[in-house]
Amino acid sequence: MATETPLLFQPLTIRGITLPNRVVLSPLCMYSARDGLANDWHFSHLSAFARGGTGLVFTEATAVRPEGRITHGCCGLWTDAQAEAYAPIATFISGTGMIPAVQLAHAGRKASVAEPWTGGKPLGPKSPSDAEPWQTVGPSALPVGEDWPTPHPLSTSEIGDLVDAFAASARRSLAAGFKVAEIHAAHGYLLHSFLSPLTNQRNDSYGGDRAGRMRFLLEVAEAVRAVWPDELPLFCRISAIDGPQEGWSIEDSVALATELGARGVDVVDCSSGGIAGPPAYRADYAGKPLDRAPRGPGFQVPFAERLRAEAGVKTMAVGVITDPHQAEEILQQGRADLIGIGRELMYNPFWAVHAAEALGADPDCALWETQYGWAMVRRSEIAASGGKR
Ligand SMILES: Cc1cc2nc3c(=O)[nH]c(=O)nc-3n(C[C@H](O)[C@H](O)[C@H](O)COP(=O)(O)O)c2cc1C
Repeated sequence: MATETPLLFQPLTIRGITLPNRVVLSPLCMYSARDGLANDWHFSHLSAFARGGTGLVFTEATAVRPEGRITHGCCGLWTDAQAEAYAPIATFISGTGMIPAVQLAHAGRKASVAEPWTGGKPLGPKSPSDAEPWQTVGPSALPVGEDWPTPHPLSTSEIGDLVDAFAASARRSLAAGFKVAEIHAAHGYLLHSFLSPLTNQRNDSYGGDRAGRMRFLLEVAEAVRAVWPDELPLFCRISAIDGPQEGWSIEDSVALATELGARGVDVVDCSSGGIAGPPAYRADYAGKPLDRAPRGPGFQVPFAERLRAEAGVKTMAVGVITDPHQAEEILQQGRADLIGIGRELMYNPFWAVHAAEALGADPDCALWETQYGWAMVRRSEIAASGGKR
């Protein structure tokens, strides 16, 4: 009797693109670029996941403007040279049959910090790093917390320029060869900071009620969709909640995801938190540190499930999904369409082909790259024979 292919290894077609499976490398900042240009590190890093059978491979958060970088080492797409630097990476990933994807971002008031391995603090006199800080921007003049700089509140025309910058970077992403684009509207960065009532205290048309706070992101989604070809999928990553009690709520996210879907966003990538900054520098809200969703296996899956059921969009679940059976169960139960994986793929870039083996989906090592597959068959034969061959 033929066994059904596990859902994790069934292809998924979104618009004109067929993902070979449902394993996704979640965006991972490497803080290793110069002048926003991807380099050999990024090639080596991202190509490993494609060789490991990861169906959709995302770049790190890639800034649409220089001041939208988190650190001096973040990649960008505000110049054509940066698109040219990404092109060999996108070409290599496509050559393996996997799908190259770009995450477009602006770090807003959480920009201008040091790399996490040096403490991740805001650049400036109190930073151990001597790198030059730059002026950050946000919806309102509210710093992330103590020792953080006060962001410049964006004017209406500056917001318009940034909408154009997202669209221009999307155009460059296409030229670079990416097949999927994601708008980063999570983790307290610029677009999220406009959504959240904790950080957006404007009283113009980009603030106030939920519709006003959503306006910037929805304009970005429309502008990106307008330049991103109809046959290519568009994702948006959101923080589905700020914290369990306060700020942006899951009900807000259902409303947002519905509006994003109406503007041609195909997949909502469901993360959470980040508005209050890194744990060590968390600001007080209402006199106490903002809680965040308790971390544990699959802790953000309920957000993906709720949006999938109520907002009419596809969703990606992410966050401490480490085990192939766990991933398969999430898909089987209809809680998400895609499985995003970050740290577990850093730990093991071959996670996808190993997961296929664990789920019985690849008895002949056919999902491995040709150059490795035949040798993996030999390896299995040797193991099965007790090492006697
Ligand atoms: C080193 C590192 C860098 C990250 N960079 C990004 C990023 O550029 N954009 C983003 O949206 N999330 C980023 N994240 C969050 C991950 O994409 C992912 O959502 C998170 O790690 C939870 O998934 P995991 O438990 O599988 O690691 C980063 C996480 C790590 C560990």
